[in-house]
Amino acid sequence: MTTSEPASGNGNGGAAPGELLLKVEGVTAGYGGGDILKGVSFTVARNEIMCIVGPNGSGKSTLLSTISGILRPRTGEIAFLGDSLVGLAPRQILGKGVVLVPQAHSLFAEMTVRENVEMGAYTVRDPALVRRRRDEIEEMFPLVRERAADKAGSLSGGQQRLVELARSLMLDPSLIVLDEPSIGLDPPTRRTVFQMVRLMNEQGRTILLVEQNARAGLKLSTRGLVLENGRVRLTGTGREILEHPEIGSLYLGGAVSSTPAG
Ligand SMILES: Nc1ncnc2c1ncn2[C@@H]1O[C@H](COP(=O)(O)OP(=O)(O)OP(=O)(O)O)[C@@H](O)[C@H]1O
Ligand SMILES: [Mg+2]
Repeated sequence: MTTSEPASGNGNGGAAPGELLLKVEGVTAGYGGGDILKGVSFTVARNEIMCIVGPNGSGKSTLLSTISGILRPRTGEIAFLGDSLVGLAPRQILGKGVVLVPQAHSLFAEMTVRENVEMGAYTVRDPALVRRRRDEIEEMFPLVRERAADKAGSLSGGQQRLVELARSLMLDPSLIVLDEPSIGLDPPTRRTVFQMVRLMNEQGRTILLVEQNARAGLKLSTRGLVLENGRVRLTGTGREILEHPEIGSLYLGGAVSSTPAG
């Protein structure tokens, strides 16, 4: 169902502090059998880092696929800056400034790092603009410059993840959707990836991420959402979720005591 909403102006999201960027309302979706998502609603305001946590199979990746147009919701509405995304093709959603970095590695192993990054701008027709963005991104990600000529497949998992983050910036997105950016990474590499996520956010990108490493993900984030069996169990600040007694013991290996955040 595609309802086109009237343009609704800035900041009408009720409690959301900033401009409402993404609104997900009553979304049900699945793969042909039963519904995996069973009426999911939440909002993301501009400049937030929003972290989705939840057990394996709870529908986190399904939710990101639905937002990015890979999967079409059976019912419900997904709006970005007031415009419905429902029924749009993934590349149209990309064109609106919503980019997904998927859970599995997605670089072309036989292509160079630079070619992979430039692929991120495949819809941009202006070569000068592609070069300018690439230069800015190489400035921000020294690894991308240092390894520009190397085949992507020769990089470590963590380095590939950084190249994927770099590539996601080529279309100058407003909303970056990250599915488990730290999966399989050792703690120092994970910290580097999170630092880059924070930097992208400081540069004005809104971030929606899924993190298996819930504690680290929620600490990085302004707000969190717990997804359980296709339903939103809880939303709140990262800290509220970390300190919630049940959530703490279910997903975080015990609630976090109120030590000052780093
Ligand atoms: N392409 C698909 N076809 C059919 N069923 C699928 C498909 N992808 C996922 N599922 C099913 O949908 C449910 C939710 O999967 P999803 O990948 O969204 O969970 P998740 O929360 O991302 O889990 P994880 O933490 O393991 O990544 C699971 O039962 C899964 O088996
Ligand atoms: Mg997943």
